[in-house]
Parts: sequence; structure tokens; C-alpha cells
Amino acid sequence: MAVRKVLKLGEEILRKKSKKVVDFDENLWSLLDDMRETMYENDGMGLAGPQVGILRRIIVMDVNNNYYELINPEIIFQEGEDIDTEGCLSVGKFNDKVKRPYKVTVKAVDRYNYPIEITGEKYFARCVCHEIDHLNGVLFVDKSENGKEFLKERGVK
Ligand code: NI
Repeated sequence: MAVRKVLKLGEEILRKKSKKVVDFDENLWSLLDDMRETMYENDGMGLAGPQVGILRRIIVMDVNNNYYELINPEIIFQEGEDIDTEGCLSVGKFNDKVKRPYKVTVKAVDRYNYPIEITGEKYFARCVCHEIDHLNGVLFVDKSENGKEFLKERGVK
């Protein structure tokens, strides 16, 4: 296992759309192990493929001391609204309020391509939405209250 470099705002790869995972092999497993280690090393709640330079639909998360690996994740149900503060390892110290669904059901597969379906509320829902956004090249600052000004000030996209 190894800690990988987390790409920061301004890196073009963060703005690209990730492709579905089709090979469930040792390369995927070592990537997932590295992503887990990288997330914990940086005290993150979640990490998505593009953040380590891999344009594949892979996310890892730790919410309420539960570790999740979600491959090819899709939100299949969402309900309610929740506004709370968010941050991102790729954005740095800036935190801002973002509106997210209060409750979601996510469908995905695990590292062995077995189907998973999880329903969660509040931070789980927030985190999974944030990470899936990464797979579509979207950052929380695109959606947050003061995000547009933040990007403008920084002169990055
Ligand atoms: Ni993030």
C-alpha cells in the first residue's frame, strides 16, 4: 500500500468525467488500498479516483467510523434537503455551505463486482453526493454559497 498524491484545484483531471470500472482485478484492489490509505493519511472523509489522477468511477469514504468502497456508484433515490459545511482534500482550507439531499440510496458494486445498495442520511448522503460529483468533474465549490467567488479570487476553474 502507498499514500498517493492528492491533486489540487487547478489540475485539469479534476474537471474530467470518469469512466466505469470494468476490470475487477489486482490493479483495482491495490488502487483501492492506496486510496483508503491516502484518505486516512489526509484525515479525509472521502476520496474519489480523479483526486489521485485516476479517471475511473471509484470512491472510498469513512462516515461515522464505517469504511465504504463504492465502485460505479449511482444515486437511485434521494429525499429531503440538508445544508451544511463541506470541504475537500483537493480544495484545501476553504469550507463552505452546500445544499445536498438529506437521504440517499446508492447502488454500486464492491471490489469483487458484487452489487451493493446502501441507504444513508445526513453525512453519508452528503459525502456520497460530494464524491460522485468528483466522478463527473464537479467540485463542491461549484455548488456552494461562496464557491464561485472563491474560484474567481483564486483564478482557477
Ligand atoms: Ni472532495
